[in-house]
Amino acid sequence: MRVLNIILNGKAVTAREGQTILELAQENGVFIPTLCHSPALEPAAMCRLCTVQVIEGGRAKFVTACNFPLRRDAEIRTDSPEVRHGRKLIIELLMARCPSSPELQRLAVEYEADLTRFSSLNDDCVVCGLCTRACEAVTGKTLSLAGRGTAIHVSTAFAKISDFCIGCGACVQICPVQKISMEDVDGERHILLHGKIVSQVKLPRCKSCGKYFGPVIDLEKVMDRMGEHLIPPPNADTCPECSRHNLAVKLGKRYFEQYGVFREEGQADAG
Ligand code: SF4
Ligand code: FES
Repeated sequence: MRVLNIILNGKAVTAREGQTILELAQENGVFIPTLCHSPALEPAAMCRLCTVQVIEGGRAKFVTACNFPLRRDAEIRTDSPEVRHGRKLIIELLMARCPSSPELQRLAVEYEADLTRFSSLNDDCVVCGLCTRACEAVTGKTLSLAGRGTAIHVSTAFAKISDFCIGCGACVQICPVQKISMEDVDGERHILLHGKIVSQVKLPRCKSCGKYFGPVIDLEKVMDRMGEHLIPPPNADTCPECSRHNLAVKLGKRYFEQYGVFREEGQADAG
């Protein structure tokens, strides 16, 4: 592996060839704002918020730090007046799309964004694509980006309720502007996008306590996709609380049997 000499905001550091600027900055305690990046997913450079300036071979250019791999010695500026100016513009555009996002509001204050420059489009998703990439990594079939240009949006196939969703909630967790929600109603898990139900997943009922729980996710397929093996499948007909309880009873039984003092649940104290 080749080691590169980098000047990061005026300080000499070393980088591994192929490492992204964002990874290098994080390793060196330099903060670069991101919106569409998750270390668990392939970068897609959708939001442009992480744009920085790179000077390589005497030529300066603006690149997105989350997906730009370093290949040669370079100088990187993550917070120069030019970078801040461009980032302010991006924040103003994103705020026009989603003014209710606390994260964008915080950045708007930090960068003194002019919130009157662009008229507010809606209060919607910022099309970062995190939910669609997370969905693809887990099931690969429910959410995707549809449309083109300014009409690009997140949708299910043919904008219909999806039969493929497993109700894992990864899209809900990962959305940086909280535009996807999830609710469990009468034994069904609903995923809502723009306030509209896009998937309904039946929840199983616990055979021990009768509560709805889950959903039960076929972790074998997920683990296969993630390259993990040998993880035992989840208990399909017992809720997590009852599974934990039953396991504790089993382990307790095994342990106390050695000493002949194990007592079944509900059995009176010998006194
Ligand atoms: S719904 Fe949220 S996670 Fe999905 S693209 Fe929009 S902003 Fe990103
Ligand atoms: S975080 Fe890099 S483009 Fe969005």
